[in-house]
Amino acid sequence: MIELLNISHDYGSETILHDISLTIEPSSFNIISGESGSGKSTLLSIVSTLLRPTRGLLRYDGVSIADIPDIDRFRNERIGFIFQFHYLIAHLTIYENIAMVTRRPRSEIMELLTSLGIDPLASKYPDEVSGGQRQRAAVARAIINRPSFIFADEPTGNLDSHNSENVFSLLRSLDATLIVATHDHTKIKPSDRVISLKDGRLC
Ligand SMILES: Nc1ncnc2c1ncn2[C@@H]1O[C@H](COP(=O)(O)OP(=O)(O)OP(=O)(O)O)[C@@H](O)[C@H]1O
Ligand SMILES: [Mg+2]
Repeated sequence: MIELLNISHDYGSETILHDISLTIEPSSFNIISGESGSGKSTLLSIVSTLLRPTRGLLRYDGVSIADIPDIDRFRNERIGFIFQFHYLIAHLTIYENIAMVTRRPRSEIMELLTSLGIDPLASKYPDEVSGGQRQRAAVARAIINRPSFIFADEPTGNLDSHNSENVFSLLRSLDATLIVATHDHTKIKPSDRVISLKDGRLC
């Protein structure tokens, strides 16, 4: 379970997030929605431990993240990040980009690439494939170690509707707590928790 208690965030003198309190249940699929500039990425960065909020408390399974002794290790072992820009390493192939973060066998990596439709591209370099194919490789890298928590910022921004559906259904099939920031309402299912933001406030 993730808990946000009275989280606010300022950039300079401007308050971008206002007094956000939320509980995220284990294994739930949560969507942060809101207009451009409403604070989705900022909130996602805070919940995912990457950005320290100006005010308020963030707890994972009851423990304040300030009290987690080795936060880097915690992130490595428990959290998967999918950014809008994929940050693949240019000098490694698609396969190697995923292999470098995991001890899982080749067969398992290839199986995941197959489920994302990019197995034929395993030996290509990131700049030899399309933006949407890179994005799918980044999804594979984020989930190969089966993290308990997955955070994704517009994970399907570069994908056509078929591949976008595929990425969402793959994410839904994982036994993880997921939080996805997206402005695309067509991705929301009735079972999802929708966290709506307007001008940095829950609404
Ligand atoms: N590093 C920063 N420094 C100053 N202001 C920032 C910074 N990052 C974001 N902001 C401002 O904070 C507000 C919220 O930005 P954020 O990126 O969280 O919005 P968003 O909902 O993710 O938007 P989008 O849908 O366009 O990605 C915006 O007004 C933005 O200009
Ligand atoms: Mg954003």
